[in-house]
Amino acid sequence: MHAQHQDHASTRNTTRPAGRTSGDQRADDIDPFFVFDYVPIDGPDDTPRDGRGTQEAPQDQRFTTYWDVERGCRGPDPLPDWVITDAGAIDSELGVLKTGKEADVFLLERAAPDGTRVVMAAKRYRSTEHRTFHRSADYTQGRRVRRSRDQRALSRGSAYGRAVAAAQWAVAEWDALCRYWSADLPVPYPVQIDGTEILMELIEHDGTPAPRLAQVRPDPDLLEEYFLQLRTAISVMAAEGVTHGDLSAYNILAAGERLVIIDLPQVIDLVANPNGPDFLMRDCRNICSWFRSRGLDVDPRVLFEEVAPA
Ligand SMILES: Nc1ncnc2c1ncn2[C@@H]1O[C@H](COP(=O)(O)OP(=O)(O)OP(=O)(O)O)[C@@H](O)[C@H]1O
Ligand SMILES: [Mg+2]
Repeated sequence: MHAQHQDHASTRNTTRPAGRTSGDQRADDIDPFFVFDYVPIDGPDDTPRDGRGTQEAPQDQRFTTYWDVERGCRGPDPLPDWVITDAGAIDSELGVLKTGKEADVFLLERAAPDGTRVVMAAKRYRSTEHRTFHRSADYTQGRRVRRSRDQRALSRGSAYGRAVAAAQWAVAEWDALCRYWSADLPVPYPVQIDGTEILMELIEHDGTPAPRLAQVRPDPDLLEEYFLQLRTAISVMAAEGVTHGDLSAYNILAAGERLVIIDLPQVIDLVANPNGPDFLMRDCRNICSWFRSRGLDVDPRVLFEEVAPA
């Protein structure tokens, strides 16, 4: 098991092409619908902007925002080799991958002037009345909001408060992705965060976005292998002092033989949150009930005992 984990960690930073396409290959089966209302902003002084020349980006495309965000809003080192940092790169919306309860996930292609391209997942948190945030105050216990103005707006539920909440969930997911990527956990590489939008590695299998675990029917060997991968991941997270908080077969992607955990804005602090152990138990229960439904005899209490920090 450990060897598997190492395997993944050692290949992901170097060779895995994660959404990279070549030449003119585009995701033609996805409806392009989004016109980006992009206003260029000045980047920090060290921003390498040479590649942009004096040209405007074509409509419904924009120049890469990679250098427009601050250092802490760009992904951790070492950068996987598929990440395009060229300041002259052009971002194009390819369409919606999935609309969720709290956010929509789009496909975004970044193309460098030298012809290299990569397709990434752009997760955008919604701040309108139409979203249905199901994550309750139970999740955020032990977290603090820095500005009291923001705290008051959040409590009132005003439009500004909703915008603050959306940005906070995005930042929480960003922090979790950066931390777990650096801890070698199987999560998508976080490329950048810009307000309520996180750009991350697109998890693929056979050239298309990977299905959710809930959609696949692995054979018994692979089923067991999947379980071992998850047990390791939950245990590494618990050793880091957190649990996912909404772990289920819907928030795990099956990329062939490898599972990747997504949707992490609500990670629960096992120490600061008084409900921490309950959330860890619930994650164990959700996972075990899916594996049991597929025929693997696993027990949530045993899993909890195995992964809970001493
Ligand atoms: N990095 C990624 N690579 C591939 N697919 C992704 C990625 N991130 C998200 N998706 C797809 O988008 C869906 C929604 O993403 P996510 O679960 O993070 O958002 P959500 O708003 O919580 O959605 P839901 O309410 O469906 O759980 C995922 O189930 C998955 O199919
Ligand atoms: Mg989800």
